[in-house]
Amino acid sequence: MNNIILLGPPGAGKGTQADLICEMCDIPKISTGDMLREAVASGSDLGIKVSNILDSGGLVSDDIIGSLIKERLTKPDCAKGSLFDGVPRTIGQAEQLADMGINFTHVIEIFVEDETIVNRMSGRRVHPSSGRNYHIDFNPPKNEGIDDETGEPLILREDDKPDTVLKRLNVYHEQTKPLTDFYANLSNDGSLMFFKVDGSKTVDQVFNNISSQI
Ligand code: AP5
Repeated sequence: MNNIILLGPPGAGKGTQADLICEMCDIPKISTGDMLREAVASGSDLGIKVSNILDSGGLVSDDIIGSLIKERLTKPDCAKGSLFDGVPRTIGQAEQLADMGINFTHVIEIFVEDETIVNRMSGRRVHPSSGRNYHIDFNPPKNEGIDDETGEPLILREDDKPDTVLKRLNVYHEQTKPLTDFYANLSNDGSLMFFKVDGSKTVDQVFNNISSQI
């Protein structure tokens, strides 16, 4: 069974690699970003509560994230393992996941310089209901502005505006980056495998690097 965490700054390519890894390992993707955006789109109480936080680039509370994960893990498709995309994001969340008894097999950090990320984000286009994402230059859809699978229109995410991307990068460095030491220490104990990959390479090169180590 593979329980895998993908760590990395906004725009590092976590979602892109998550889809490829899930297909390879036949496990579901648990993306808290996708789950929160779905809640906002549906207009649920949770969506109303978190909408401003997402738009401003801040982090949703650990309690909300913990509840979302706990509920998601009750679904039968998680029985064979899961890919955690963008979660945990704080030490508090990592401790919650440990308390849930999840045995992580791999933690992968995708690292990319901040400057590359700011340039990347302006070119990202997203299919809102599936979370599938593209890049106008590096990973374009077959037809401009249109999702390959559904034929529906692609959008620019509200939090991909340059000022918000800078705020998300600051939040990453302050609150999420410390998780790399947290998991590197567990790796030293032999509890899981932690490794880093260079996310500035092409999508295929990054995936080859990851798949050769899982
Ligand atoms: P979330 O949706 O998780 O956003 P993120 O972590 O900031 O990551 P992104 O989705 O922006 O980027 P990514 O690394 O997945 O890169 P992607 O593959 O898309 O979270 C959004 C918000 O929700 C947060 O800000 C927060 O408010 C809240 N939230 C979510 N989880 C939370 C949690 N656990 N706790 C608290 N709050 C939470 O790629 C980016 C672009 O680059 C795409 O256009 C892609 O096509 C392109 N690309 C990918 N790989 C390459 C490559 N190798 N070369 C060139 N281009 C590439």
